[in-house]
Amino acid sequence: MKKIDWHKKLFESLSFPTLILTPDMTIVAANKRFLKKYSQGKEKIIGKKCHNILYQSEDPCPESSCPFLKVLHNKDATSSLKKTTGADGAEIYEDRVCSPILNNNGDVDYIIASFRDITKTKLLEIELQKTSEFLENIIASSASAILVADMKGVILRMNESARKLFGYTDKVAIGASIAEYLYTPGGARSIMKKLRSPDYGGVGKLYTTEMTIITSSGEEIPVEMTASIIYQDGKEVATMGIYNDLRPKIEIEKKLKEAEQIKLEQSNKMASLGQLAAGVAHEINNPLSGILIDASLILEELDEDSNIKNDMQNIIADTHRCKDIVKNLLAYSRQTEMKRELFNINDVIEQTLSFLSHHALLQNITINREFSASMLMCEGDKNQLVQAFTNIIINAAHAITGKGDITICTRRDKPKGKIYIEFRDTGCGIPEAILPRIFDHFFTTKEEGKGTGLGLGTVKSIVQKHRGKIKVKETSPKGTTFLIELPLFKVTENAPL
Ligand SMILES: Nc1ncnc2c1ncn2[C@@H]1O[C@H](COP(=O)(O)OP(=O)(O)O)[C@@H](O)[C@H]1O
Ligand SMILES: [Mg+2]
Repeated sequence: MKKIDWHKKLFESLSFPTLILTPDMTIVAANKRFLKKYSQGKEKIIGKKCHNILYQSEDPCPESSCPFLKVLHNKDATSSLKKTTGADGAEIYEDRVCSPILNNNGDVDYIIASFRDITKTKLLEIELQKTSEFLENIIASSASAILVADMKGVILRMNESARKLFGYTDKVAIGASIAEYLYTPGGARSIMKKLRSPDYGGVGKLYTTEMTIITSSGEEIPVEMTASIIYQDGKEVATMGIYNDLRPKIEIEKKLKEAEQIKLEQSNKMASLGQLAAGVAHEINNPLSGILIDASLILEELDEDSNIKNDMQNIIADTHRCKDIVKNLLAYSRQTEMKRELFNINDVIEQTLSFLSHHALLQNITINREFSASMLMCEGDKNQLVQAFTNIIINAAHAITGKGDITICTRRDKPKGKIYIEFRDTGCGIPEAILPRIFDHFFTTKEEGKGTGLGLGTVKSIVQKHRGKIKVKETSPKGTTFLIELPLFKVTENAPL
C-alpha cells in the first residue's frame, strides 16, 4: 500500500490560507490557499519573516499587536480579529487563529496560523448592531413611557420616560416580578384579558385605553396606554406597554373649564348689564324726544340775534347724540324687535346717506357710490341696517381728518347667493394691535364724549341677525375697508331669520 504523508495532506486540505512559522517568525510552510491568496510562488515565501509577507514590511510588528508572540508566551491557541483595507479600498475583516505545535518538552516548535476571511459575517454583524442601536435609540428617546415585561410579569426593559413615570430605577425594576404592582388591583389581569381578546384592537393588541398606574412611591397616576403581546415562533414571550401621562391634559381641560365658566359668568353679567342699559335707554328715549321738541320750538321762537341761540343749537345737537346712543344701546341689547321686510340694499344705503347728509362730520367728505345695477334683494329689518351702515360711515368720518373720501361699493354673487357691501375710507387706518378688539362692546379709542364703543358691536349683532358676516378687509395708514356679506334673498327661501 502506498504510504500517505498525512501531515502534508492535512495541511494542504485546510480550507483557510494557512502558514507554519518557527518561533523566530520565519515561514517554513504555506498551503496552496495561502499562496493563491497572496498570489505568490512558494519560493518567495518560504524562509521569509511573517511581516515581510503579511504586511510587506521590513520591520517586525509592535509586540503588543503580534498574536504569534502571545502564542509563544502562553503556549496556547489565540484568535484575533484583524481589520485591513483591500486594494479596492473596501474593508476586510480576518480572523487569525494561531496555535502552537509543541514538542515533547512542552516547548513551542512551530506556530500554525490560519487566516479566515470573515468580512461578510462581520459586515452583517455591524449592520445588525447599527439597526439594533437605532431601534434602541427610538425606544430610549420616546417621550412616551415604554415598558416590556415577560409573561410572568418580570420587567425586561424600561426606557427613560418609563423610569420617570413609574419612579423605578433599572437596578430595582429590571428582573423583578413587579408588573402586577404597577396597576391598581386587577389592572394587570384586565390588560392581559383585553390583549388576548379580539375586541380591543385584535388579538395581541390593546388600543388606547385610560387607566391608573401606581408609581414606586404609591402615587396613582391617570394614563393613556396602548399595549401589545410580543410573539416568538407563535408563542407569547413578552408584553409591551406604552404609556402617556394624562395629568397635563387633565390640567389643561380643568383650566379650560374654569375659563369657560368665567366667560359664561362674564357673558351673563354682560347680558344683565345689557338689559339694564336697555331699560334705562327705553326710559330715557321719551324724555329725550320731549327735550328735542321743546328745544326746537324755543329755537324757532328766538330772535335772530339772541345770545342763547348758540346754546340752544348745542342742546339740540347733544340731544341728537343722546338719542343715537340710546338707539345703539337698544339695538345692542336686542330690545328692538326684528322686522321682516324685503328691500334692495342699494336703497337702504341711499336712505342712510340721506339721513346723514346734514351731519356736520360729513361736510368735508366726498361720498362715492359704486353700486351694482342688479337687484340686491335682502330680507330683514331695514331700520336696523340703516343704523348699522350709519355707525360704519360715522366711524369712517371720524377716521378722516380734514378732507377725504368714503366709497361704498355693492355687488352680488348670484351662484353663491350673497350680497357684498364694502365701505372704503381714506382715514387713519386701524392699528393691528387693536384689530381683534374693535367689535367688542364698549371698546373705543376715542376720547370721552366722542365714542361709546358700542358702534361696531351693534353693527356685528345686526349683521349676524341677518345671517351675514362683517370683517375688516383691509386697513393701512391710508385707509380702511369694511366688508359686509349678507344673504341674497331667494324666492324659494322662507327660512325664519
Ligand atoms: N373706519 C375706521 N377707521 C379707523 N378706526 C376705526 C374705524 N372704524 C372703527 N375704528 C376703531 O374701532 C373702534 C371701535 O369702534 P366703535 O365700536 O364704532 O366704537 P366708537 O366709534 O364709539 O369708538 C374705534 O374707537 C376706532 O378706534
Ligand atoms: Mg363708532
